[in-house]
Amino acid sequence: LKPQRLVRDVMGSVKDTLSEDLPVRDALKSMDLNGDAMMAVIKDGRLTGLALRNTLVEAMARGYGHSPVKGYMKREIPTVRPASSVSELYDLMRDKEISHIPVISRKQLVGWVSRWDVLGMPHELKPLSSDRRRGKVKIQETDDLSGLMQDKLSLAMYSLIKDIGRIADAGNISAYLVGGFVRDLLLGRENFDLDVVVEADAMAFARNLGEKLKAKATVHPRFKTANLILPDKMKVDLATARSEFYEYPAALPTVKPSSIQQDMYRRDFSINTLALGLNGKDFGRLFDFFEARKDLREGRIRVLHDLSFIEDPTRIFRAVRFEQRFNFKLDRHTETLLRAAVDLEMFEKLHQYRVKDELILLLSEPRPLKVIRRMGELHELRFIHPGIRLDREMFKLLQSVADTLIWFDGAFPRKEYKPWLVYLSALLKSLSPEEIKQTLSRFGFAAGLNEGLLLSNAKAGTIITTLNRSGKIPASRVNALLRPLPLESLLFIAALSGSPRLRERIHRYLSL
Ligand code: CTP
Repeated sequence: LKPQRLVRDVMGSVKDTLSEDLPVRDALKSMDLNGDAMMAVIKDGRLTGLALRNTLVEAMARGYGHSPVKGYMKREIPTVRPASSVSELYDLMRDKEISHIPVISRKQLVGWVSRWDVLGMPHELKPLSSDRRRGKVKIQETDDLSGLMQDKLSLAMYSLIKDIGRIADAGNISAYLVGGFVRDLLLGRENFDLDVVVEADAMAFARNLGEKLKAKATVHPRFKTANLILPDKMKVDLATARSEFYEYPAALPTVKPSSIQQDMYRRDFSINTLALGLNGKDFGRLFDFFEARKDLREGRIRVLHDLSFIEDPTRIFRAVRFEQRFNFKLDRHTETLLRAAVDLEMFEKLHQYRVKDELILLLSEPRPLKVIRRMGELHELRFIHPGIRLDREMFKLLQSVADTLIWFDGAFPRKEYKPWLVYLSALLKSLSPEEIKQTLSRFGFAAGLNEGLLLSNAKAGTIITTLNRSGKIPASRVNALLRPLPLESLLFIAALSGSPRLRERIHRYLSL
């Protein structure tokens, strides 16, 4: 047996610390002197918090330079002990998505561990498959969810759902809420996407609902679906219960009206096959045809049949999205089927735009790093480009993107941008300009996006060297350098450099 590696084997030493009463201004000076983005705050020798440079910069900008640092530090911080195992540390970092963790012994700060100390170790990249934390989800036992709906949903949403049930009753139509909404209701997560399936013509039902609820109904005859937009902007998607047939792998399905049970069977994973009755007699009754609740309880992503990934290869990516979003685990057989579909390069058979949409969704998940790492493990990154390597340097860059976006969202909460594009820029970083161009046009991205990304790669070196210099740089020079670039490129460059000074200059430029 290999001895287990412990935190004490990888931790770095403590350089400087801050005292709680030190003014923000002096704390910042100290950080700049050490080149640190965060420092430990100590009282009577004990760790009481972490001061983050970005927060202190914000405090300074708002005129609080004289206030003690304790008013601006982060108090709830995870810590480890020197004798903790590296896999424990790894789990903690993954769950909290933080880059540095203090090491505490007898209540004293004795060291630091950073993400790089851990992620550099190849065998530590594997623990995802033996995650002990998963499956601790408490799921309601009874089939009657009407109480849960009343508790968890807003009054407006609850009344809308009641109205849909009432109108369905009047037309003698069986109606169900399905999919992600029911799954998230059981998981206690917010979801505003109301998906309704009716065992009838959904388009006619949607028109009827539209009239009664004064909502705008749009119908899509090809798939027998419709959607409604209510005056208060709430949305409902409606579909006729249907079976699907795939004429060839990865084709769009041919559909045929059927029962709610068959409609659930055509779906991707068991956790998405729950239906909730809306009719008077069944209002709030849960229909669980494929043991979805058991899988939710045990944290499992499971396909319903062996051809699922072959018929619809977008599920290769959806599986990772759900697994990582909920901290679940692919069931063993499902993982075997997924790996086989990856080996067969099934995603090559998909229409570009479907892959592009999936890629954007993957990189838009709340924790893209986890998603990317899992895609790497399952050899899915080669569908973006075979040249993408998830080495130490790439992880460092991706983590820097995550840190930069946290900083940016804090500093400019109202500025809109595409976080997925910043992650995509990082993933494509090691490819040649020609490869980047080909990759983006293969997915059907607009030419503008392509140019922005190539431009940021080409200019990154000059921008980083210029904006990282100490001393004054004329605003006109900064403007000339940064103006041609889209916001996502600026964020990518800020992440690439990782330098607080450069961030500061970008901050100033964007604040003008
Ligand atoms: N679906 C599927 N196969 C796909 C895409 C979707 O079976 N390739 C089904 C799933 O059952 C899903 C439903 O269609 O529950 C609606 O799709 P979508 O809105 O993408 O899924 P959600 O589960 O609502 O996902 P999210 O929480 O990401 O919105």
